[in-house]
Amino acid sequence: MTDNPNSEQAEFWSDGGGLDWVTFDTQLDELFAGVNAALLRIAKPKPTDTVLDIGCGTGATTRDFAAQTAQADGIDISTTMLAHAQKTAPTNTTFTRADAQTELLPADHYDHLVSRFGVMFFDNPIAAFANVRRALKPTGQLTMACWAPFKQNPWFTIPRFIATDLLGSPPPFDPRAPGPFAFADTDYALGILGDAGFINAAVQTHDIPLSLSGNAAHAAKLSSYIGPADSVIRAMNGTAADKAKIIAKTQEKLRDYEQNGTVTVPAKIHLYTAKNH
Ligand SMILES: C[S@@+](CC[C@H](N)C(=O)[O-])C[C@H]1O[C@@H](n2cnc3c(N)ncnc32)[C@H](O)[C@@H]1O
Repeated sequence: MTDNPNSEQAEFWSDGGGLDWVTFDTQLDELFAGVNAALLRIAKPKPTDTVLDIGCGTGATTRDFAAQTAQADGIDISTTMLAHAQKTAPTNTTFTRADAQTELLPADHYDHLVSRFGVMFFDNPIAAFANVRRALKPTGQLTMACWAPFKQNPWFTIPRFIATDLLGSPPPFDPRAPGPFAFADTDYALGILGDAGFINAAVQTHDIPLSLSGNAAHAAKLSSYIGPADSVIRAMNGTAADKAKIIAKTQEKLRDYEQNGTVTVPAKIHLYTAKNH
C-alpha cells in the first residue's frame, strides 16, 4: 500500500488502459453482455431498489441495472471512462469519480452493491470492501463478477501466449496483486469478503460464452488491446509491428471459434455474493 492508495490504477485506467477501454467500449459491452445478464439474474433487483456499481468504467452495468431499478449510481477511479459513461447516462443514474477504497459514501443507502470486473484492482481489498459495505443497507446484497483463473479463459490465454512466445515473459507477478485475476482464487476472495465484514459470502463459477459479432480479425484486435497480451506488450516494450504480429497470430487461432459471422469463446467467471452483517 502507498500513501496515495490506488494511484497507479487511477493513472492506468485514466490513461492508456482507460483510453483503450473507451475505444473498444461497444465491442466490450457486446462481449460481456452475458455477464450483466448473470449479475441481474443473481441480484434480482426490485423496481424500487437502489444500486451502487463499483468500478463502473464506461457504465454498461450501471445502465442495465438502472433499467430495472429506481436508481443506479456508478463510481470509478478513471476520469476518462467516467467522461464516456456520462455521455449516455439515463436520468436515474449518476457517475462519480471516487476511489471505492477511500470515498466517504452515504451510509446504509444501497440495496445492492454490484460490479462487473471492477473490484480486483484495490491496493487494500479488505479496506475497500469494508468501505463499500458501509454504504449497503443492513438487508442489502453484494453481487460481483470476477475472472476465474487465467488458464481457464482462452480469451486471455490465446493472445497472451502468442505475445510471450514473441516477446518473452515479463517477471512473475503476485497472483493476488491488483489485476484482472486477483480474485481468481475463490478461498482468498471469500476470506477478503469475510474480513471486510460481509456474511454468507459464496461463489459460483459460471460458464458464460463471450460473443462478438464480426470475424476473427475483429475479435483478435480487441483481445490484443485489452487484457494480458497488452500487459506483455507494455512490459516488454513491444512495438507496433510486434502488436500487429500478435493480432495476426491471434486471428488464426480465433478462427476456430468463428461461426456465422460471430466469434464465441467459452469463459469461466466467478459470481460472488455476500450479505451485509
Ligand atoms: C476491468 S475495468 C471494468 C469496467 C466496467 N465495470 C466494465 O465491466 O465495463 C475495471 C474498472 O475498475 C476501476 N477501478 C479500479 N480501481 C478502482 C478503485 N479503487 N475505485 C473505483 N474504481 C476502480 C477502473 O477504473 C476500471 O474502470
